[in-house]
Amino acid sequence: MCGIIGVTGDEASCELLLAGLELLEYRGYDSAGIAATDRSADPATSVVWRERAAEHAGSIDHLRGRAGSAPASIGAAVGHTRWATHGPPTEVNAHPHLDCTGRIAVVHNGIIENYRDLGAGLAVRGHLLVSATDTEVLAHLAEEQVAAGATLAEAVALCLGSLRGDFALAMIHAAEPEVVVVARRTSPLIVGVTATTGIVCSDVAAALATTRQLFALDDDQVAEVRPGSVVVRDRTGARVEPEPVAVSWSVQRALKGGYPDFMSKEMHEQPRAVGDTLLGRVQADGTTEIEELVLGDDELRRVRRVVFAACGTSYHAGLVGRQAVERWARVVADAEVSSELRYREPVLDEGTLVVAISQSGETVDSLHAMREARRRGARVVALTNVVDSVMAREADGVLYTRAGPEIGVASTKSHLAQLVMVEVFALHLARVGGRLDQGAVVSVAGDLLDLPVALEDALDRRATYEAVGRRFAACENFYFLGRRAGLPVALEGALKLKELAYVRAEAYPAGEMKHGPISLIEPGAVVVVVATRTPLWEKVMANVEEMRARGAAVVAVADAGDEETARLVDAVLEVPHVAEICSPVVNVVPLQVLAYTIARARGNDVDRPRNLAKVVTVE
Ligand code: F6R
Repeated sequence: MCGIIGVTGDEASCELLLAGLELLEYRGYDSAGIAATDRSADPATSVVWRERAAEHAGSIDHLRGRAGSAPASIGAAVGHTRWATHGPPTEVNAHPHLDCTGRIAVVHNGIIENYRDLGAGLAVRGHLLVSATDTEVLAHLAEEQVAAGATLAEAVALCLGSLRGDFALAMIHAAEPEVVVVARRTSPLIVGVTATTGIVCSDVAAALATTRQLFALDDDQVAEVRPGSVVVRDRTGARVEPEPVAVSWSVQRALKGGYPDFMSKEMHEQPRAVGDTLLGRVQADGTTEIEELVLGDDELRRVRRVVFAACGTSYHAGLVGRQAVERWARVVADAEVSSELRYREPVLDEGTLVVAISQSGETVDSLHAMREARRRGARVVALTNVVDSVMAREADGVLYTRAGPEIGVASTKSHLAQLVMVEVFALHLARVGGRLDQGAVVSVAGDLLDLPVALEDALDRRATYEAVGRRFAACENFYFLGRRAGLPVALEGALKLKELAYVRAEAYPAGEMKHGPISLIEPGAVVVVVATRTPLWEKVMANVEEMRARGAAVVAVADAGDEETARLVDAVLEVPHVAEICSPVVNVVPLQVLAYTIARARGNDVDRPRNLAKVVTVE
């Protein structure tokens, strides 16, 4: 969490920093801050200029209003947008943090786990730490090294050995006014250099206005970035030659493009996200090909168990993956929340393939679950939306979704792309393993290829979903039910409603209600049920009857034109009919719109729900 940016050279300006911070704001928006060196000041005595604001979503605008006081000739600058971990979201805790001299400024993403010990040592040695953050120690540790004669890059390198935790940091020092020094461990850090400028940031989106030639720093590397040049060293101090790659994402794709918010835009982009993700991977004749998977057919045939590891919405994609792998490939499959898997001492061996699903490719629990799996001998594949993300680089193979940049905090198009990608993977595994006959493979391929059109159809019905949302916008207790392929949809619908509308919403397998939760059902409760036609439809509808008998209003996700279902419930969210195992891709859409509508009706910011950040880089 948190977004960091740094820039040096001719383009260094508050506007560049602030525009970059706007693109990074999805990583946290509790506060924001910028700091800069002055090229025309005396390097021996000058201090860094700094402004910070803790106005939540308004922080960047606030800083823009104060940018007039910045040095006229900025040498190097750093900026930060914060998701608070240590210390409340106040201005004093906002980054950048300074050392005692006011000549060094640092911005940081991640957690310095041993900051208390480090801070206590610094206090004994006479430093005055003013914030409650784990970050501030970094500026003071560097201050000590610089006082002993180190350059800023040397100081950062010397400090790294004493740090525990996951971090990406960027520092500037008034004595070296055109240098930005960056280092990382686990948290991402991207670097780009043009002839006159150097830029560093947490996410490629913030660098694209400057350059498309970018490279990602590796763990425990330190980069000294100057206008037009960069020196990278590894933990031994040896020089490493970075290999920039050309990034194809456009800045335009990370802008709202006329929509009122990113979530609307991203929901609208779902047919394309799914179509792009299928492109070239599945053909109508049943051929499947996943180039970046790396694992060959023989290796896939040796897989005895597939474990999907993920968090939040991505976990729901894992639940669908489990069903698809078991149904089509007849391979044992599990789906587990990464933060549990990594600490559970799981049995994972060389017969296990762990597929870690993460939109961002950065989620710290999923990254560590992947590492734990690798330690135990399993093969690991990262299913991610971000090319060259930390997880993509560490995995044995990759399954890339092609949803494009997703800025809204709530996953929408990236989730649909995940769903379709786990299904493509399951079909590939089944085909390679010879577990599905050719006719069945062709039929599943056809079902997958039909999905973009079905999604267009679902999105065309958006106004009807919004009408249902408005009708129930004032309700406070929601229950989401589903069976089999409907269960991950129910879980996702409830999560979306909670995180966007701040309404209590619980999801259960429909068959579980009478084992306890049904006690909660009374008039005023709203039950949203996934009731599209499957072999379990009658059982689902029996559960619906039980809910209605206790006074709940029932909203059903139902096949378009299914009058029987419509008669048995209070409201329907109609979707085009698709094959059951592919149905989550379509059935989630009305639930996204439902959550969106209820959140908007309650006056919530759908792109920046409270307490959340798009990228979770802390445990
Ligand atoms: C909810 C949501 C989160 C993420 C979760 C994992 O809408 O977006 O639950 O799915 O934080 O993030 P990634 O997929 O980046 O690992």
